[in-house]
Amino acid sequence: MSQLNNKTAVITGGNSGIGYSTAKKFKAEGANVIIIGRSSEKVNTAAKELGVKGITADVSDLSAIDNAVNQIEKEFGKIDILFVNAGIFSPIPVGQISEKIFDNLMNINFKGAVFTIEKFLPIINDGGNIINLSSINAYTGMPNTAVYGASKAALNSYTRTAATELAPRKIRVNVVNPGPIATPIFGKTGMSEEQLKGLGDMMQNRIPLKRYGQPEEIAEMVAFLASDKASFITGGEYNVDGGTNINPLLIA
Ligand SMILES: NC(=O)c1ccc[n+]([C@@H]2O[C@H](COP(=O)([O-])OP(=O)(O)OC[C@H]3O[C@@H](n4cnc5c(N)ncnc54)[C@H](OP(=O)(O)O)[C@@H]3O)[C@@H](O)[C@H]2O)c1
Repeated sequence: MSQLNNKTAVITGGNSGIGYSTAKKFKAEGANVIIIGRSSEKVNTAAKELGVKGITADVSDLSAIDNAVNQIEKEFGKIDILFVNAGIFSPIPVGQISEKIFDNLMNINFKGAVFTIEKFLPIINDGGNIINLSSINAYTGMPNTAVYGASKAALNSYTRTAATELAPRKIRVNVVNPGPIATPIFGKTGMSEEQLKGLGDMMQNRIPLKRYGQPEEIAEMVAFLASDKASFITGGEYNVDGGTNINPLLIA
């Protein structure tokens, strides 16, 4: 039986990578799916491919989130699942962190996530659930990720408190921490092909399963957490990382 029949789900950053794969999975499990993204061209193309509703909104712009919520409420009424996935990765070393990069990372990855939830809460059904997309970088000291990792660590901390406060409404709130996943995110950093390959090779060597994850492997976990099968799970954090966070001192 389909896990998400009769559920309405919103996915931010749904036009690409993990969000796109999750939209496909949610739809296959019977949900009505709405994807949100910042580029109308990309959102419209993805929505058409997926056969879902697409809405353009930049999650770092609170009034844009308000507009998206109003549009969804008018068209769909209340929703059951909110997948807070939109995010960016901007590597920058300590000592060279500019205010612009700091604000951009925090505004999208943390402030954007918090206010997506704030704005959607009035239209989430009691008994619904929220899944936040963080990263194992919330717990690592990987070079160049001080601000990115902090933006995700803040989200994990927020998730725990939100899970407590939303429990009276029976709204479950969980977080998924992916390891390196093969998506377009790395190509959006401005790194050269050579730098990207070097980073890819280095990371791959550090992963016990010796490969990047696929976005579909994150979508499986998100769909499980969104479903009634996870009915007793809230405030949880799940690493989907090929074992990266074990931090093996030696790689077999
Ligand atoms: N890939 C990994 O290795 C990895 C690992 C750990 C965590 N993550 C996290 O996973 C999430 C999804 O990333 P991904 O790897 O699937 O990358 P992706 O393919 O680049 O997808 C990110 C999505 O977020 C959207 N987005 C970015 N900024 C936005 C904004 N201000 N407003 C609305 N939408 C916005 C992007 O839109 P555009 O297409 O227009 O850029 C895209 O749809 C992110 O939160 C990322 O930090 C990824």
